[in-house]
Order: sequence, then structure tokens, then C-alpha cells
Amino acid sequence: MAENSRHKAKIAVFISGAGTNMAALLFASRLPDAAFEIVLVASNVRDAGGLALARLEGIETFAHPHKGMTREDHDAVMESAAQQAGAEFIVLAGYMRILSDAFVNRWQGRMLNIHPSLLPKYKGLDTFARAIAAGDSHAGSSVHIVTPELDAGEVLAQSVVAIAPDDTPETLGERVKLAEHQLYPRAVNEYVSRGFDPAFLLGRIRKLALGLPETHERESHGSPGFRVGSEKSGKFFAHFSDQHHGTPHIAVLVKTSSMDELLSLVETQPEVYFKPAYYGASGWIGLILNRPGVDWDHVGEWLERSWRAVAPKRLTRMMDIEDEF
Ligand code: GAR
Repeated sequence: MAENSRHKAKIAVFISGAGTNMAALLFASRLPDAAFEIVLVASNVRDAGGLALARLEGIETFAHPHKGMTREDHDAVMESAAQQAGAEFIVLAGYMRILSDAFVNRWQGRMLNIHPSLLPKYKGLDTFARAIAAGDSHAGSSVHIVTPELDAGEVLAQSVVAIAPDDTPETLGERVKLAEHQLYPRAVNEYVSRGFDPAFLLGRIRKLALGLPETHERESHGSPGFRVGSEKSGKFFAHFSDQHHGTPHIAVLVKTSSMDELLSLVETQPEVYFKPAYYGASGWIGLILNRPGVDWDHVGEWLERSWRAVAPKRLTRMMDIEDEF
């Protein structure tokens, strides 16, 4: 995708050990189709093996032991290193620290982890020993979004690895790592690219738009649109626009209250807003979605506002009453 090849997502990788997954990510990031680059490798262990490898490859590194620090303070030091390096995502690769809720929440949707089990099985430690003891036929690894609850965020991808009758946790762990080295770079690549993928973006808009009361989807001029009211007399409150009329933008078009508002938003925040061809003349503004750091709460607020602007009074009155409580 054109937009994608222009912007490589900047990731900081956090490690505590050998860093073989970090190395797999690093070498993958140098292949021609990579959608990400590593801007920092950071560790809570000063002599973590992966740090030397990263330095050898010309990647910036950072180490800060956690000893004697509160969890929050240590997280803050690591976070600020990631921010200074310009990271848009934090990728945990054998980072053996539990993170504070506040830190995790600040990076919600922008922090991934790899865990050596087929989640939701075997969260926490000693995953291989537990899989063998349970008599499982297969073990594996999972890439997931990091949420405050340990190893419980949405699973993005998994690799399945057969368990041999004579496997020890060590022999099984070695094979799972081989699988991880294939899995993690691919999962990270896909995750950081999805913000530029029209199908993914439309899916998110659809969920938000159809989450509003009495809405339905209707095509308009060949593009998906969203209406409020009955099938017969409903009105459009949003249009999805995928690089139409020569713009590079994938966007959702929503109603502004006036041409003044539209023009001033486009002028002051051209990275977020644009005036779409044809629709712009009647007050529709384009909210650009194929860019780093889209604030989806903000997109949701715009959709609701646009919905309110055209929804029948009986529906907006209900919303107004709900707002009061
Ligand atoms: C990996 O197997 C990863 O799944 C695991 O640590 C290993 C790190 O190896 N992560 C966890 O156990 C997280 N709870 P590496 O340093 O060689 O990449």
C-alpha cells in the first residue's frame, strides 16, 4: 500500500534476556516489505544478551535496572526512553517484568507481548513444564495486546508446536522459540499495518456507527455510508471514503455545523481534517484515518455528533436525557 510504504511504524523493543525474538524482529524489519523499524532496544538488565546484538547492528539501546525502584518509577524511566526514541509502539520480547496499570493504560492498543503458551492456557511462568505435565499434545506461543490483566489481552496470532513424548521443558522451549521467530515479526508487521488497511478501518467505523441507535448501512455513490432513521426515510450521518477523487486519505466524512467550522479545522489541523470533493460543499468534513496515532474516542465523538445532527428528534431527546444523568 502506498501510504504504508511511506510510513514505517517506530517500535521500541523491551527485553530482559537473550533477546532472540528481538533479533528476529530486527532482521525482519530490514526486509523490503517491513512495516516497522526498531528505534530502541531497552532492558531492565544491564548485560542482557540482546543489547550487545542490537548495538552491533547500530540500534540505540538503553538499560536501567529496576533494583531499589518502585514499579511505577521504573516503568516511567523505560517509558521515557521509548518516548525519546520516538516509539509509536512498545513490543515486549521476553521482558520479564509485570507493568503498572497506569503505564499499560497509557499505551493501550500500542503495546504487544509474546507469551510462550497457547493462550488462554498457561498464563504466567513455567508454561512448558505445565503443558508437559498436563499431557498436552501441543504447546505453542501467542502474540497478544497488553492489557492490565497479565497475559489476558486480545490474542492476535498463535503458533502451534507438537510436544514429543520425551520433551523436557528445555527441548520444547527451544522449538517454540523457532516458531516464535517466525510468528512475532509477522504479527507485529500486520498489527502496525492495520491502521493503513481500508478493510480494517471500515470495520472499526462500521462498529462505531452501527453502535449508535437506529442506524443502518447503505451504499452511496459506491461507498459504504451510515444512516439513522428508518430504511425508507433515514438520513446519512457518515460516509466512508477510501482514497477518493485523487486524495491519499482513507477517511470518514461527518457533518460539521458550518462552513466556518469546517474551514477552520482544516486550516488548523491539516494532518487530521480535509475538505472532501463534492461533499465538502455541503459541510461534510473528512476525518483522516490512515495516519499514525488516530484517537478512536475522538472519531466516535464525531460520529455521535454527526448522528445527532440528522437523527429524528425523538431519538436525540432520549440521548439528551441520558446525558443529564
Ligand atoms: C520467549 O520465549 C518469550 O515467549 C518468553 O520469553 C522468551 C524470551 O526469549 N516470554 C515470556 O515468558 C513472557 N511472560 P528471547 O529473549 O530469546 O526472545
